Amino acid sequence: MWCLELLIPLLLIISDANCQWNIWLPRDISAMTNSCVVIPCSFMYPSGIRPARGVHGIWYFGQPYPQLFPPVVFKSLTDVVHESYKGRTKLLGDLNQRNCTLLIGNVGTEHSGRYYFRADVGGANKYSYPDYAELKVLDQPNIDVPEEIVSDESLELTCYAPDNCPDMTPEIQWMYTDYLPDPVFSAEYTEESNTAVISNTLTFTPRPMHNGQLLGCRVYFPNTTLVYERLISLDVKYSPRSVWVNVSSEVMEGSSVTLHCEVDSNPSPRVAWLFEGQEVLWDTASNISISLDDVTPENEGIYTCIGDNGYGMMNTSLYLAVKYPPREPVVNDSMTVVQGSSLALHCNTMGSPAPTLTWLKDGELAGSITAGELSVLEIMDITPQQTGQYRCLAENEHGRTSASLNITVEYAPVFLEESKCTVVREGVQCVCVAVGNPEPTIEFYLPDLNITINETDGRFNFYTHTDGHTSTAMIKLREKGERADNNGPAVNVHCSMYNIYGRESVLLELQQEKKYMMAVIVGTIGGVAVIAFIIAAVRYVGQNNKKENGNPRQDVVLENPALYYSAVKKDKQNLRKKVLKTELLGSKFNSILEETTVRFLNKSLLKHKPQRQMHPLAYQLLFSVHFNLFPKRPSAWLSHL
Ligand SMILES: *[C@@H]1O[C@H](CO)[C@@H](O)[C@H](O)[C@H]1NC(C)=O
Ligand SMILES: *[C@@H]1O[C@H](CO)[C@@H](O)[C@H](O)[C@H]1NC(C)=O
Ligand SMILES: *[C@@H]1O[C@H](CO)[C@@H](O)[C@H](O)[C@H]1NC(C)=O
Ligand SMILES: *[C@@H]1O[C@H](CO)[C@@H](O)[C@H](O)[C@H]1NC(C)=O
Ligand SMILES: *[C@@H]1O[C@H](CO)[C@@H](O)[C@H](O)[C@H]1NC(C)=O
Ligand SMILES: *[C@@H]1O[C@H](CO)[C@@H](O)[C@H](O)[C@H]1NC(C)=O
Ligand SMILES: *[C@@H]1O[C@H](CO)[C@@H](O)[C@H](O)[C@H]1NC(C)=O
Ligand SMILES: *[C@@H]1O[C@H](CO)[C@@H](O)[C@H](O)[C@H]1NC(C)=O
Ligand SMILES: *[C@@H]1O[C@H](CO)[C@@H](O)[C@H](O)[C@H]1NC(C)=O
Repeated sequence: MWCLELLIPLLLIISDANCQWNIWLPRDISAMTNSCVVIPCSFMYPSGIRPARGVHGIWYFGQPYPQLFPPVVFKSLTDVVHESYKGRTKLLGDLNQRNCTLLIGNVGTEHSGRYYFRADVGGANKYSYPDYAELKVLDQPNIDVPEEIVSDESLELTCYAPDNCPDMTPEIQWMYTDYLPDPVFSAEYTEESNTAVISNTLTFTPRPMHNGQLLGCRVYFPNTTLVYERLISLDVKYSPRSVWVNVSSEVMEGSSVTLHCEVDSNPSPRVAWLFEGQEVLWDTASNISISLDDVTPENEGIYTCIGDNGYGMMNTSLYLAVKYPPREPVVNDSMTVVQGSSLALHCNTMGSPAPTLTWLKDGELAGSITAGELSVLEIMDITPQQTGQYRCLAENEHGRTSASLNITVEYAPVFLEESKCTVVREGVQCVCVAVGNPEPTIEFYLPDLNITINETDGRFNFYTHTDGHTSTAMIKLREKGERADNNGPAVNVHCSMYNIYGRESVLLELQQEKKYMMAVIVGTIGGVAVIAFIIAAVRYVGQNNKKENGNPRQDVVLENPALYYSAVKKDKQNLRKKVLKTELLGSKFNSILEETTVRFLNKSLLKHKPQRQMHPLAYQLLFSVHFNLFPKRPSAWLSHL
């Protein structure tokens, strides 16, 4: 750097150019407040000049002299300096040695700025060098922080402190590093353009948890009270690392529900709620809530909350279950079927939780109880007794509902055993009772006369009555020729019944009314005829008894109608009680019904009954007929039932 004055003449011209007004000082230099700084400096002046009275110099602040007459920092001739530099400056260099090195002590931030040197080598040879040293006085150390700190990527933070004060050497310490995972520190010293900087680099791998944490760098001069600190807050970018949503939950239909989602990420994510894969709401925030008013079963499903902040994305799902009472079941329409057919009755409903479906026939359990949305009741080979109201009951813990259908079974006529002929005052009376659906048509056939009677004519009183599915027909054989001859065999009466499903024909038996016969004997016929009559009667009875022995049957004529009705009523009450019971019981209902099943199955409807079981209506009708026509007599019908 020094001017080469003693070079060979050819190079002297070039060298002369170098040995003009020139100065070397650091462009930038820094110092900590209250410490000192040495600005290294050396200068040149043209080689032709021979300073007579020595070399002098002045340091100016801010501007090169003479612009705006800047404050004097140091002056070698006098000690007149600007107020703010009084007692602070000292020239360390020897100007005659062209060394203009300057010390400024106890610097403050107000001393930050440009420093210019002006050389005075005598006479008019004064020169303000345009180059300057720019001093920065720091009250805090500098920390070099990368523009972006990303989680899980190694991070280097460097803290710098100037070391340009010869008496004092700073030291650097990192603060608040206790929580850092495996921090590594490395100190460094760098010198550049005659200025020195010490630094300490902290290396670690930040985690999301370090976002927002404080870190500090402390610079201090040992054995002094000078301490400088700088704090930084870590802005650690991380992808969503947790997406919190409400745990899966259940709500009642019609209620309101808020689903909440919070995403932990930096920066805030674009957060969105998806329902069954379709985005329904989004925002740029750390949390998002979706509110559902008047929830319906359509709202049931998977809700997913997605957070995406450019560093990554994450999602969490919940299942929202909507509870509701069963919907009114859909069942088949009422139907009319033919005996022996097989049916499958369907009951469809919806409910959450899945309802239990119960088929009841006239209030009694029919089939099994199933859980689900469909229950099929299969009825094989249906019998007339299975006519009735079939109700499908759907229930869950939130409610119950039902729907019903009626099944009507149609069947061929069935002859009832109450049919018979009896001897009465006016002759013989024959009654024929049959059930069938549609109700049967009854006619009588007298084989001896080869005639069919279906209406009243001159000779016969024909009476017919239909009640429900029960038909009753009656004829009176009045004339001698048509009734049992005193000597001849009993008259034959056939009862013939039919509907669209079939026809049946039965020979009716003549039953003797013994007491009544005696009355007839005593009351109407003279004493002469008594013996003949008795003989005839005995014969007749004998014959009849034989018949009865050959084909024993039970008589079902009631002794006391009130008893019968109360029995029927009692049965009906029991039935209603059962229905009420089934309707009133809550969720314990199922097990009770199961118990009932066993009893029920053992006993009745699903079991095939003998075809010639009497229809209850038939009993009623029959009774009214019999009671009017025949004298009372004991009966064992109750035990028969
Ligand atoms: C100038 O003077 C300072 C202080 O005495 C000294 O440290 C430095 O080495 C000198 N510079 C040169 C180039 O001689
Ligand atoms: C600080 O002072 C102590 C004694 O007063 C001395 O031993 C030590 O070397 C000094 N440290 C520095 C860096 O000057
Ligand atoms: C979800 O969480 C939010 C906030 O904690 C709460 O207000 C809301 O009721 C919760 N929703 C459900 C369905 O639990
Ligand atoms: C939800 O985000 C908003 C801003 O988007 C914020 O003000 C609020 O504090 C957040 N709530 C919670 C619980 O984080
Ligand atoms: C949710 O995240 C899983 C992986 O964590 C991914 O397979 C799925 O596709 C994501 N769902 C959505 C809707 O982005
Ligand atoms: C009842 O309805 C279901 C479905 O509608 C049908 O499949 C079934 O055959 C019906 N049953 C009868 C006996 O009609
Ligand atoms: C079934 O019959 C009863 C009378 O026996 C009647 O009250 C009810 O409405 C009928 N139900 C249907 C679905 O037809
Ligand atoms: C009964 O009468 C019908 C005519 O009404 C006749 O065709 C039939 O041959 C008769 N049967 C007997 C056995 O007399
Ligand atoms: C009786 O039977 C005859 C012949 O079968 C028929 O024409 C008549 O309509 C029947 N009478 C009644 C009341 O059914």
